[in-house]
Amino acid sequence: MTKNLLEIEDLHTYFKTVDGTIKAANGVTFEIAEQSVLGVVGESGSGKTMTGLSIMQLVDSPGQELLGLDKEEMRALRGKDISMVFQNASSSLNPVVTVGEQITEVIHQHEKMPQREARRLAESLLTEMGIPDAVKMLETHPFQISGGMAQRVMLAIGIALKPRLLIADEPTSNLDVTVQAEILQRLKRLQRESGMTVMLITHDLGVIAQMAQEVVVMYAGRVLERAETRELYARPRHPYTAALLAALPRLDSVGRKLHVMRGSLPKVLDPPDECPYIARCSRAIARCRTDVMPTLMESDPNHKVACYNPVTESMRA
Ligand SMILES: Nc1ncnc2c1ncn2[C@@H]1O[C@H](COP(=O)(O)OP(=O)(O)O)[C@@H](O)[C@H]1O
Ligand SMILES: [Mg+2]
Repeated sequence: MTKNLLEIEDLHTYFKTVDGTIKAANGVTFEIAEQSVLGVVGESGSGKTMTGLSIMQLVDSPGQELLGLDKEEMRALRGKDISMVFQNASSSLNPVVTVGEQITEVIHQHEKMPQREARRLAESLLTEMGIPDAVKMLETHPFQISGGMAQRVMLAIGIALKPRLLIADEPTSNLDVTVQAEILQRLKRLQRESGMTVMLITHDLGVIAQMAQEVVVMYAGRVLERAETRELYARPRHPYTAALLAALPRLDSVGRKLHVMRGSLPKVLDPPDECPYIARCSRAIARCRTDVMPTLMESDPNHKVACYNPVTESMRA
């Protein structure tokens, strides 16, 4: 039996605004097996980042912006148990403090270690993330480096304390495809060697195929489907997942962005209790309109779907 490192049950994260309630996470349930990579995929606005931040317990009420996190909170993001890294490295790094100082500061916040040793650790972390001249990088200021390099630095910081869980939120999304593939490969090797557990948030199904053993598909704050990666790609059961995959020519290369679907976007403010995908769904039946969104149902132990009329084997043929 594999043990779970983390179990999330019925997570709700709401923002009350003057116009209504935004349900960023609306009953999210999933677990992450120890030493595995779980992919969380969904279009922009589906609630992936808010789910990650909620796990970090960094969502204040109401409506705190990540950029508004104070020093203490940023520190919490780089914890020993869980750490979280984001797409936008340039805003998470201090532009005027050297890379070396920023990494060793994180190390020293959590571990007593002579400065020399901390620098050596920082150097090896940078090398592991594929930075060619790590010694020189230690002396460099973030404003002098490219987006790809900054992202490598952020990942080095993210893994510096050997967290049990790394939440990587689109860690390579604004990089070019080759750099992205290389960084992901390094992250994967490191994950395997260290036995770290990773929650990988992305809107790129190619990244999931390359990295994750299991996938959670999110839509409008809900989990629509969850399965082992190969199983999900071979036998999608939710009409939304099936539509996403049908729009992809190939899954084995990184850079496969989610297809922009036709039909109305899910209602963000005061969403209905029914399935949020109804407006775009080709398989909606009467029950989908009259009943509340179904919970995740198990079709086999490695596959769960929240749908009253899931895609069947014969439909796929
Ligand atoms: N600080 C905030 N105040 C109000 N609404 C927010 C805030 N942050 C996120 N949201 C809303 O929560 C929903 C989920 O956002 P997010 O988790 O960032 O999505 P994703 O990461 O999947 O793109 C979106 O509708 C977004 O507009
Ligand atoms: Mg996000």
